[in-house]
Amino acid sequence: MSNVTFHSADGIGRICISHPPLNLFSHSLLTGLSAALAQFEADASLPLLLIYCEGQSFVAGAEIAEFNNPAFSAEAINVLLNRIEAQTRPVVVALHGTVLGAGMELALACHYRVAQKGSKLGLPEVKLGILPGAGGTQRLPRLVGASLALDMMLSGRPVPAQEALASGIVDAVEEGEPLALGLAFGRQLLASGGQPRRLSAQTAPPGEHSQAIASALEAARKSPQYPAKEAIVHCVQQALTADFASGARAEAEAFNRLLPSAQSRALRHLFFAQRRSRKIPGLERQVPAGKIEQVGILGAGTMGSGIAMCFLNAGIRTVLADAAPAGLERGLQLIRSTYEAQVAKGRMGAEQASARLALLTTSLDDQALAPCDLVIEAVFEDMSLKLQVCRRLGEVCKPGAIIASNTSTLDVDALAQATGRPADVVGMHFFSPANIMRLLEVVRGAQTAPQVLKTVIDLAGKIGKTPVVSGVCFGFIGNRMAEVYLREAEFLLMEGATPAQIDEAVQALGLAMGPCRMLDMAGLDVGAKTVIECEKAGGLPPDASYRAVVRKMFELGRFGQKTSLGYYRYEGRQALPDPEAGRIAAELAQAHGIAQRSDIAAQEIVERLLYSMVNEGCKILDEGIAYRASDIDVVWAAGYGFPDFRGGPMFMAEEIGLAQIVERLEHQATTRGNRYGYWTVSPLLQRLAAQRQGFDSLQAA
Ligand code: NAI
Repeated sequence: MSNVTFHSADGIGRICISHPPLNLFSHSLLTGLSAALAQFEADASLPLLLIYCEGQSFVAGAEIAEFNNPAFSAEAINVLLNRIEAQTRPVVVALHGTVLGAGMELALACHYRVAQKGSKLGLPEVKLGILPGAGGTQRLPRLVGASLALDMMLSGRPVPAQEALASGIVDAVEEGEPLALGLAFGRQLLASGGQPRRLSAQTAPPGEHSQAIASALEAARKSPQYPAKEAIVHCVQQALTADFASGARAEAEAFNRLLPSAQSRALRHLFFAQRRSRKIPGLERQVPAGKIEQVGILGAGTMGSGIAMCFLNAGIRTVLADAAPAGLERGLQLIRSTYEAQVAKGRMGAEQASARLALLTTSLDDQALAPCDLVIEAVFEDMSLKLQVCRRLGEVCKPGAIIASNTSTLDVDALAQATGRPADVVGMHFFSPANIMRLLEVVRGAQTAPQVLKTVIDLAGKIGKTPVVSGVCFGFIGNRMAEVYLREAEFLLMEGATPAQIDEAVQALGLAMGPCRMLDMAGLDVGAKTVIECEKAGGLPPDASYRAVVRKMFELGRFGQKTSLGYYRYEGRQALPDPEAGRIAAELAQAHGIAQRSDIAAQEIVERLLYSMVNEGCKILDEGIAYRASDIDVVWAAGYGFPDFRGGPMFMAEEIGLAQIVERLEHQATTRGNRYGYWTVSPLLQRLAAQRQGFDSLQAA
C-alpha cells in the first residue's frame, strides 16, 4: 500500500505522506509522491496543492541505506522536485518536527512554506560527507543568500522555526496540526491571489556574497579530509553566479563524486554504527527503563566530578561523596571553576550555572548515597579498595538502586559479587574529561539485570552520551585495544623511535593525538598503575620488557603534563622533545636486550600500532566482548579521537583489506619474533581474510 495519498476537499488538493516514524524519503515514498502528484495534475479544477506529513515529523531526511538502490537516486528525486516546483498552481507545504535533508529540499521545491512552532529545518548532509543533492545547494542560497546558506550547509546545524521565519526560509510559523496550518495558509493565499513562486527562477537577495564565499572556501580548504565542504562552497558559488540548470549539474556532479568517496562511506558507516550500537542482543524491547531521579557518585576526583557535571547538565539531582575532605573540596572546586569558565566564555548564563550547582549536594558520609537511584563509584583504580567500596555500597544503596563502577580496566564481575547484589551492578566507563567526551562504555556483567542495562543505556541518551555495551575483560573494548597500541609504542621507543616520530605517524592519519601525547595528558602515573593492577591480576605476559617505559617513567616521577615531564618536556601545554626520555628508553633497551636501530619508518609505526589493535579487536569480537565490529568503531571514534572520516579502526582495516592486515601481522611475527604471542593472528581475522569476507558477514550469520 502506498504511504502517500492524494485527496481533495474544499477545493484544495492534498498530498499526505504517512511513512512512520520519520517519513524518510525512500524509493517507495518517491513513487507514491509521484503518483499522488499525477492525480493533482489530472484535476484542473483544484486551484492549490498542499503537501503535509502525518506522524511525529515532516520528512526528516533521505533513507540513506537506500542510496545503493539504482532506482532511488538523487537524480530521480530531482526530477520529482522539479516537477513539483514547475506546477502552475501554487504548492504549499506544511512543516513540523525535524525537516532535514531531502525533507528540507522537498520544502524548498514547494512555492510556500508554513511551519509548526517548534519545528527545525536543516541540511545536515555534510555530516555524512556528502552535500544536499536534491537542489538544496541551489535553492537555499537563492532564498537566503550565501552567508546563511553556507553556515547551514557547512555546519549541518538545523535552524529553529522562528529563525527560519526571520530569515525568510518559511513564510509563517503557527501553532497547530500541520494539515490545519497548511489549509489555513492555503485559503489565505487563494484569497489574496497568490501565484506560484519558484526558487530556481529567483536570484539571491543582495548581500556580501563573494566575501562569504571566499572566507568559506579558505576555511574548507583547511580541512581537506572533509571534501564535501569545498564542494558545498563551489555549488553555492554556482547558485549565485550561474543559471539553475548549470548549478544543478554542478551539484549532481559533486554529489555523485562524494557519495562513493572513502570519507563519506566512513562517515555513513559510523552514523549507522551508532544507531546499531543501541540494539543489545538478548535485551527485549519490552524491558522498561527505570527512572533515575537522583544520582550518587563516590569519589570526587577528576572523573567523579566530571561525571557529576554530566548529570547536573541534564538537570538530574546529584550527590557527590568522598572520604577525604580535601578530595571533596577539590572536586567541588573543579565543578565550580568549569561552570565559571563557561559563563565567562558566554556559553552559559550565570543563572543557568547556579541552577545546575543547586542540584548538587556534597558529603563526606557515604550514607548520603542511600536515597539515590543510581550510585557510581569513581575511587582510585585499586582492586582491593574497589572491592571494599563495593561491599559497602551493597549495604548502603537502597534496594533496587543501580550500583555502577567507573573502573577503566578492572573485573566488573568481581566487583558485582562484592556488593552481594550482582544483578544491580553494571560498569559505566566514562572517558576523561567525563563532561565532554561522548563515549560511555556500558560494561555488562555476567549477572547484570536486563532492566539495569536498559536503564543505563536510556540514561546515557539523556545525558548526551553515546553508549556502547562491552562484556567483561581487562580494559573492556577500548582500553584492551589501547593496551596493545601502547605496548607497541613502548617497544618502538626502546628500539629507538622518538615520541614525536611515533605520534606524528598516527596523527598523519588524522588521529587527534598519538600515544605518547595521549599518555602524557592522561598521566603516566594513571597509565603505570593500570599496568601494575593488570600484573597483580595475573594478566601480563611473562615479558620483563612489557611496558617497561611507562613503569620506569612512573618510578622517576615523570607523570606527563601534570609534572611537566613525561615522554615530552612541557612548557605550559606545549610538548617539546626531551633527550632524557630517549636516554631512559635506550637504557631500558639495553637492560632488556632490545636492539636499537635508526630505520624505523612511519609505515612500520602505523602497522605495529594500528594493525595489532585491529587484531585485538577481532579477538574481542570472537570472545563476544563486543557484539559487532561497528561497536568497536564507535568506541574509538567517540572515546579515543579516532578520525570519523576513517570510520574507526575496524572499518579502516576493511578498507585496507583484511588479507593485507594478516600479511603484515605475519610479517611482524617473522621479523620481531612471536615469543609472547603478540603477533598471533586472531582466528576470526584469519578466517575472514581467507574467505574474503568482511565484518558484516558476521552480523548476517
Ligand atoms: P582521582 O585520584 O582523581 O580521584 C579518586 C577520588 O576517590 C579521590 O578524590 C579520593 O579521595 C576518592 N576516594 C578514594 N578512596 C575513597 C573511598 N574509600 N571512599 C570515597 N572516596 C574515596 O581518580 P580518577 O582519575 O578520577 O579515577 C577514578 C576512577 O575512574 C578510577 O577507577 C579510574 O580508573 C577511572 N577512570 C579514570 C580515567 C582518567 O582518565 N583519569 C578515565 C576513565 C576512568
